[in-house]
Amino acid sequence: MYTSKIIGLGSYVPEHIVTNDDLSKVMDTNDAWIQERTGIKERRHIKKGDGNSTSSMGVKAAEIAIKRASLTNDDIDLIVFATLSPDMYFPGGGVQVQNMMNMKTIPALDVRNQCSGFVYGLSVADQFIKTGMYKNVLIIGSENHSGGLDMSTRGRSVSVIFGDGAGAVVLSRNEKEDGSGILSTHLHSEGAHAKELCVEGPSMECWVPEIIAKNDKEFTPYYAHMNGQFVFKNAVVRFSEVINEGLEANKLQATDIDMLIPHQANLRISQFIQKQFKLADEKVYNNIQKYGNTTAASIPIALTEAWEEGKLKEGDLVVLAAFGSGFTWGSTIIRW
Ligand code: UT7
Repeated sequence: MYTSKIIGLGSYVPEHIVTNDDLSKVMDTNDAWIQERTGIKERRHIKKGDGNSTSSMGVKAAEIAIKRASLTNDDIDLIVFATLSPDMYFPGGGVQVQNMMNMKTIPALDVRNQCSGFVYGLSVADQFIKTGMYKNVLIIGSENHSGGLDMSTRGRSVSVIFGDGAGAVVLSRNEKEDGSGILSTHLHSEGAHAKELCVEGPSMECWVPEIIAKNDKEFTPYYAHMNGQFVFKNAVVRFSEVINEGLEANKLQATDIDMLIPHQANLRISQFIQKQFKLADEKVYNNIQKYGNTTAASIPIALTEAWEEGKLKEGDLVVLAAFGSGFTWGSTIIRW
């Protein structure tokens, strides 16, 4: 059995910055509310005509990751693409990345696990590498939220939170037996709460003609619906559980954690977990202040930035943890 290791990281966010004050010009919200409840100061939005899409942002992040891994596109054996905001209903973003990057006819797998998408993708990639089937897997998380947000006051509890961007890693077979790499991954779901955070349509249960026929401005299944407080309460419990599960599986303790990179859902959630695990400020990475919640992209963007800032050192115990729509949640324990 092989082990896998992250050997390249990259991220990309659109240039266009949208501040809380910018939002307060189009909806009834304000900087104080957004910062107090979420910690977010600004986020990035794709601007019409800037050439960005979910797939193309993923490609930009992937190009950086592959270069930093000292590989070429031809070395990649599998693409895993996580998003909840694909360019097309089908096919998914994976095949578009394969095409845009002129890759060989390698498989492209799309992951639909929202905020946990990157952790799910990493787990799938890890299994393929462990068995020896593939050597280099490209995992991308990318989101174009701004294209589908309700920017009126009605949508404010959701729209102020989400931002656009992409992150990518190359996960490769670890040729050295030095104990580094992914130690374990832990995944969960609870579909009973699917409707607490979802976009209901267009879907086969609520297709386009039905939406048009209703001709009702209040019937907006195409905008995300979130029961914020319910999601928050579940998030703090599940984050803790799944981090503990990962630590226990490896006979580790919270005091062993060098860097926790939580999915950037809400700064208050990160702070709650930090307190629970009694971690010092420098042991929890947060960048939601700059980007908002970028769903599947949030962990790979944060991981890339932490690495670029020299905050991930060889031998460090790095913990990734995510929770979101589905509900789905998961963790990854890494020896860097
Ligand atoms: O990444 C996937 C996982 N997602 C999460 O983990 C998100 C979890 N949930 C949350 O982060 C929080 O629940 C939110 C940030 C979404 C909302 O914060 P909250 O403290 O739960 O606020 P709330 O929804 O209970 O709303 C409180 C008040 C309401 O007004 P009333 O009824 O008290 O008069 C809302 O209408 O705040 C109002 N409100 C706003 N006011 C100004 C809601 N959104 C806004 C807004 N600006 N953007």
